[in-house]
Amino acid sequence: MTTTTETAVTISVNGSDVSVAAGDTILDACTAAGVDTPTICYGPTLTPVNACRVCVVELEGSRTLVPSCSRPVEEGMVVQTETERVNHSRKMVLEFLGSGVDLSQAEEITGWMQQYGAQPERYDNPERMNEEVKIQDDLYVRDYDKCVLCYKCVEACGDDAQHTYAISVSGRGFGARIATEFDVSLPDSACVYCGNCVAVCPTNALQFKTEFDLRKMENWRPEDQSVTTTVCSYCGVGCNLELHTQDERIVKVTSPDDHSVTWGNLCIKGRFGWQYVHGDSDG
Ligand code: SF4
Ligand code: SF4
Ligand code: FES
Repeated sequence: MTTTTETAVTISVNGSDVSVAAGDTILDACTAAGVDTPTICYGPTLTPVNACRVCVVELEGSRTLVPSCSRPVEEGMVVQTETERVNHSRKMVLEFLGSGVDLSQAEEITGWMQQYGAQPERYDNPERMNEEVKIQDDLYVRDYDKCVLCYKCVEACGDDAQHTYAISVSGRGFGARIATEFDVSLPDSACVYCGNCVAVCPTNALQFKTEFDLRKMENWRPEDQSVTTTVCSYCGVGCNLELHTQDERIVKVTSPDDHSVTWGNLCIKGRFGWQYVHGDSDG
């Protein structure tokens, strides 16, 4: 948001001056200037981990492109977001991701691939995981062929929200993957089924079992879904719930990122404990 307070910092974005609060990032300044920037590992409620590098911009005086999501603004910075170098870098990042990951349910990312002319087929298919979808309970599934290793789920499970630390990255190189400790099944892990990892996943590698089942039946229809905001009735915290409904049935539950108490997070009851609403046993 543009600001004129004493702590404002002014930088130039694509030739226009924009003022943001000290401590804000270049990405915040781009947003304030109305400049769209692709991001994958960035989340408004998460600490930046600089994993994807799709948000890079050109910063005058810097030898390398800089990740806009994590770089704080400094007075007088001159930033360009639409140079040939920036576009080429973003295109390459998206091509590499697309060549090794199933992005079929990552609509935002595939939109950027079109925008930047990414052609993942230019590369040989590296060692794709070809993992079976992990269906270990009725709440959510893990399809790691869709995982871009953005770390958002790890952050949400760990320091940034839940402090449960049930998942982390194991392995190296092409073998790197998100896993529970010793790769035990989810019910045997430390997972408390808050679903905060599902909420931040940008590719549907983590998704509600309800959504997974409807997609399998070719009956997942976001265009026919409504979202109703309400308050969780289970305890006194009073988390905001966004009930996504299709054909008069709840199909998933999210929570608004900008809620000053819960910041998009829920517990197992608010996230998954809604089957009783339907008054039947098949959820
Ligand atoms: S499972 Fe989703 S949130 Fe976790 S690292 Fe993979 S893409 Fe990111
Ligand atoms: S989601 Fe969990 S913590 Fe939040 S109000 Fe419901 S029961 Fe309480
Ligand atoms: S969004 Fe900035 S590095 Fe991933």
